Amino acid sequence: MPHDAQPLLRTGQSSIHSLNNHERNIHMKSRFLLPGGLLIALLAGCDTGPKSSRGFRLPDGDAERGKQAFLALQCTQCHRVEGVELPAPTLFKLTLGGQTLRVRTYGELVTSVINPSHVLADEYKKQLVDAKESPMPLFNHSMTVEQMIDLVAFLQSHYKLIEPAYQPPYP
Ligand code: HEC
Repeated sequence: MPHDAQPLLRTGQSSIHSLNNHERNIHMKSRFLLPGGLLIALLAGCDTGPKSSRGFRLPDGDAERGKQAFLALQCTQCHRVEGVELPAPTLFKLTLGGQTLRVRTYGELVTSVINPSHVLADEYKKQLVDAKESPMPLFNHSMTVEQMIDLVAFLQSHYKLIEPAYQPPYP
């Protein structure tokens, strides 16, 4: 074998070697994926108690009627909705809708309307430290179920999901 053919041969060998490494990585990853999937299945499986939201499904609402309900119930006293022309709030100024890093499920939106103290909005917590109760009034006696469904459709249509620029590091 001529002397200068050696390095070429070696490069060839090392690329075959790195291919094998790559294949090994894929193999290893799939071994780690399985327990991850199982864990998610187990966690989801735990959420079956009497207070679980499993099986909860709203009929589709109407966003335009939702806007009317928003006005009729005077949500505008405390909220503006990103990108919507509404009377300016006078009591609180909490913006609903706009850019968010994750989808607001209707479960979360319904909960913030009919059980506002369950989770307090981050924006509000920034304004008032130590608040445990939501100052948002309860509408449960006056709001119809249809209004609630339409309100959720209205609000949900004004949240815009933004993809984070961040790339997760290689596992
Ligand atoms: C008197 C003021 C007031 C009125 C009226 C009011 N809210 Fe609120 N709302 C708040 C405050 C304060 C918060 C933040 C605390 C919390 O999360 O409950 C809030 C939070 C929310 C949130 C959660 C926001 C988030 O980012 O998690 C939603 C959704 C909401 N309100 C919808 C409504 C709707 C729909 C109405 C009308 C039916 C309404 N609000 C009427 C004061 C009000």
